[in-house]
Amino acid sequence: MIQTSSPTTLADALVTAREAACLTQEDLAERSGVSVRAIRNLETGHTSRPRKQSLLLIAKALGLPPEEVGRLMRRPGAERQQPPPGLVPAELPAAPRHNLVGRKAHVDSLRAHLSATEHGDTGRPAVVVGPPGAGKTSLILEAAHGVRDRFPDGQVFVDLHPGAASTPLTPDEIVPRVLRSLGAGPAAGHPEEAAARLRDALSRRRVLVVLDNADSEAQVRPLLVDGSRSAVLVAARRELPALTAQFRRHIGVLGDGDALQVLEDLLGPARTGAERSAASLVLRFCGRLPLALHIAGLWLSARPHRSLRDLADRLTQEQDRLRFLHIGDLSLEASVAACHSSLPAPVRGALQRLRTVNGDFDADDMVTHVTPSRGLAADLLDELIDRQMVHAVGPTADGRLLYRLHDAVRQYVAYGPVGSRHPDRVAGQIWLPRQAVDSGRKEA
Ligand SMILES: Nc1ncnc2c1ncn2[C@@H]1O[C@H](COP(=O)(O)OP(=O)(O)OP(=O)(O)O)[C@@H](O)[C@H]1O
Ligand SMILES: [Mg+2]
Repeated sequence: MIQTSSPTTLADALVTAREAACLTQEDLAERSGVSVRAIRNLETGHTSRPRKQSLLLIAKALGLPPEEVGRLMRRPGAERQQPPPGLVPAELPAAPRHNLVGRKAHVDSLRAHLSATEHGDTGRPAVVVGPPGAGKTSLILEAAHGVRDRFPDGQVFVDLHPGAASTPLTPDEIVPRVLRSLGAGPAAGHPEEAAARLRDALSRRRVLVVLDNADSEAQVRPLLVDGSRSAVLVAARRELPALTAQFRRHIGVLGDGDALQVLEDLLGPARTGAERSAASLVLRFCGRLPLALHIAGLWLSARPHRSLRDLADRLTQEQDRLRFLHIGDLSLEASVAACHSSLPAPVRGALQRLRTVNGDFDADDMVTHVTPSRGLAADLLDELIDRQMVHAVGPTADGRLLYRLHDAVRQYVAYGPVGSRHPDRVAGQIWLPRQAVDSGRKEA
């Protein structure tokens, strides 16, 4: 039911009523006989004189009483204010072309959250965090495309740290960048003034701001405006604990079934079914990480004459995996390098020293191998976890908490970037985690 007490426009009232009825624009068009285009124009405020007949049909399809139509027609702003002068940005990169396996619940809840921002606390962002290659960008884009219609004043997309070769954008660079996207006039001279102008611009618009590859809270804060109907969606390579996010999700590697599904989607079930044990090896060597699986699937689909066994053989040696998990402009190594490049020197140093630990490690191993200071060791461990380099693997039977480097991170620090001549590699002292050594023995 439309909340007549709410001071929304006709456009907003229609969107709210349709979503309350759990209908897409297409569903409503089918039920009402009004075209999708007409519904979209009404919902985005691009119809200056709505036809009463169309509104009657829509109200009937939504189960609203006929008298509601009169109220809708009289609703202040039925002729919705056009977006303020300037651009209506549509900057979202393309949504993933394929099925995002195992992420439906995340996509749905993100969309529900973003759709609800007009009623909620819009000063707090939605944040998705995960290790390199987990599918953060794909997830936020899939969610953002599904709610574009809710943000008629535009969608702004900023990659805050495109890769290891670039430096992260600073807040003083981000503010004028978004102001330009919104067509909100030339940037003010002083950064503080520019930040104020951005808050003002966002508070007058209904914009979706999508920030990819966030490295710090400071990059996000200038976009947060209380009382605005805009929304901010962030993909982060590290926890952003100082941001009070209204919505936070962590994503990681896929389960076995979902990981196999990624390969099946790219290769077809006949091909994976014919080589089930080789497929299992490929999943394992890819660490069930979406990016690695996607690259493996693309490699095989581009080579119908090659078998899954061929690929499994190529990936058997851990030190060769980063080199092979690379196709076109997709590269597992580049993904890890982008995260690694923004690590502070002490954290990077701790990672290097962890190469000498054999297998999973605990807080005592940090003291033995990284630094004798127990306090500093604990801080560094926290940083490694926050920055998605390390994850907890749960307590042992005797209650010890164990930690593990993410597979691709371990390969990166153990063998060095592809093409580099890592001294340990030359010396033949490459660190292998205990489990990998054990499983290698089992397979042999
Ligand atoms: N759930 C999924 N199912 C199938 N493919 C996926 C899934 N998630 C991601 N992918 C694919 O994996 C690749 C990596 O995804 P994406 O770029 O979103 O990861 P990311 O976490 O943003 O990586 P980075 O840490 O490098 O920014 C993409 O090619 C994407 O299409
Ligand atoms: Mg990404």
